[in-house]
Amino acid sequence: AVSKLSVREALASVEGSPNSIKLQGWVRSVRSQKDILFLHVNDGSSLESLQVVAEPNLKTSALTFGSSVEVIGKLVKSLHKKQNVELNASDIKVIGGCDSYDFPFKLKERHPPEYVRQYPHLRCRTNTFSSLLRVRSKATAAIQDFFQSNGYIHIHTPIITSNDCEGAGELFQVQATNWDHGQSDKSGFFNVPAYLTVSGQLHLEVMSGGFTRVYSFGPTFRAENSQSRRHLAEFYMVEAEISFTDSLDDIMQVIENLFKSTTTALLSQCPEEINFFSKYVSVGQKDRLEQFLKKKFVTMTYTEAIEVLKDAREIFHYKPEWGCDLQTEHERYLVKHCGNVPLFVINYPYDLKPFYARDNEDGPQHTAAAVDLLVPGIGELFGGSLREERFDVLLSRLERLGLTDTYQWYLDIRKFGSVPHGGFGMGFERYLQCILGIDNIKDVSPFPRFPYSCLL
Ligand code: 4AD
Ligand code: MG
Repeated sequence: AVSKLSVREALASVEGSPNSIKLQGWVRSVRSQKDILFLHVNDGSSLESLQVVAEPNLKTSALTFGSSVEVIGKLVKSLHKKQNVELNASDIKVIGGCDSYDFPFKLKERHPPEYVRQYPHLRCRTNTFSSLLRVRSKATAAIQDFFQSNGYIHIHTPIITSNDCEGAGELFQVQATNWDHGQSDKSGFFNVPAYLTVSGQLHLEVMSGGFTRVYSFGPTFRAENSQSRRHLAEFYMVEAEISFTDSLDDIMQVIENLFKSTTTALLSQCPEEINFFSKYVSVGQKDRLEQFLKKKFVTMTYTEAIEVLKDAREIFHYKPEWGCDLQTEHERYLVKHCGNVPLFVINYPYDLKPFYARDNEDGPQHTAAAVDLLVPGIGELFGGSLREERFDVLLSRLERLGLTDTYQWYLDIRKFGSVPHGGFGMGFERYLQCILGIDNIKDVSPFPRFPYSCLL
């Protein structure tokens, strides 16, 4: 029997192989000369394609750019400088033809991202997008590794929930399409309004009451009316919750460790892809990443940040004032001001933060123990805080917000063995943008969802 080899496996063999192998993939180029036929075949396992050489009589009219093929042959040492081996084909079978005129991607062309984005069902056939998806897959595993090797328990927090964790009202409501059992007085399938989750935090907080360290990594949803290059309606969030901590520094240390450990893993596991992005998508990206890893992240308080911004007041569209939310333009400026490295901003105005953020009980500029990590090119990548674990303080805030009924259970966990705790969430797509220097978030999600667009 002929054994199957992926392109990645084939390229890794230094000397070739005495036995025939079978390679399956998609044709990236076809070039026939008088006495030789050259193909490049890619199967998504690596950025590089495998060169196939064959007798010209193996060329058929169906063998075109984009077609799927099965090639049988022997791996032999290549004279080509870039590759060790090439496949000397004895048989080439076209599995699925491809009309190169209709196929949206053209041989040897580098298509702009706005163009490629129009073809979510075909874009995995481009080098840029297939590289992105390989990095995305490795990053997922590296994040899991980080938490697993640091004693965290993975919790599958629910996608359907009855709460609005962030309190921002940016919710997608969930309704059954066929649920009318003559109970029109009830509010549908769950009897209460239900939504797609905006964050798993509150569920993680529940679990942090029994495990000291927990995390989740799943889809979250926001009905934000934003067409910006860093917002999606559906995105993946990495969240962690840590018990028995009363210091924001502990939370920031975990954030920095997670960022650095995942990024180090990607630099070593995806060198070809990172080099590719560094060369064609965001020049010098790899050097920038290595810089991020070398230094300790910088920290400033929100109050200090506002002072810095006020010094440059005239350049901003939104004029910075103590008490205002930091806008993207402010975040970018702060990151630049600090030397284009990741920057923690801590202790935000109390009134800007959701009900769960811990009161710093300072004043007159009243703050909460909350932190954002801002990164070059993107702005906010992580958001986190210490949580209000004191029953009375939480109760009075929920009362002011009129939320005591909704959050009885949340108050309850402050009654039975409450502990100081805190955590954070990281937008996974923004992380990938930051690592690879990708300008638009739509280009790091396999199937991006945003206002007026839900293709496929
Ligand atoms: O800052 P956010 O809203 O924080 C929370 O949801 C907390 N409950 C997390 C926690 O403490 N467990 O969101 C966290 C991160 C942001 O910093 C940002 O990177 C990302 O999620 N994010 C988005 N990413 C893409 N599209 C959107 N619409 C996003 N909204 C937030
Ligand atoms: Mg935030």
